[in-house]
Amino acid sequence: MKKVVAIAADHGGFHLKTLLVEFLKGLGKAVNDLGTYSDEPVDYPDYARKVAQEILHKKAEKGILICGSGVGACVAANKFPGIRAAICHDTFSAHQGVEDDDMNILCLGARVIGPELAKEIVRIWLSASFSGAERHCRRLAKIDQIEREFTKWRAKKGKEVKDE
Ligand code: RB5
Repeated sequence: MKKVVAIAADHGGFHLKTLLVEFLKGLGKAVNDLGTYSDEPVDYPDYARKVAQEILHKKAEKGILICGSGVGACVAANKFPGIRAAICHDTFSAHQGVEDDDMNILCLGARVIGPELAKEIVRIWLSASFSGAERHCRRLAKIDQIEREFTKWRAKKGKEVKDE
């Protein structure tokens, strides 16, 4: 998998994204900036989709999503099976979320944290790696199981609705 960081934001996160793209490049990271490219209002699910797809198609290893609070982007990203997105506005969650939970998308709220804290969180998040500990693998396997069960349930429900 390429060591690319995919990043995207809605209008609420556009300015912070611009700073973080430069910050990531300064760290020597390969960055794929998927928009938005201005502060014209857009819809955060469209940007969550772009970053999630880059990860699921293995075009990026990790992703960053920014909206006003981080909430909308996080909720949308977690709808994609295989995505483990979390809002981290502190450095402890940023590294522990990777070490224990294998978080693959970091969500930030540009209206909540300042740029310097955001950079520090990104730096720490990037330097963390999943521990691979048995108990964490077991918990992640349970999340995969929930996704599989829900996917099956939804497919069955869809069929029932069609058959009605
Ligand atoms: C957009 O105004 C705002 O709702 C969005 O950036 C985000 O905060 C949603 O969670």
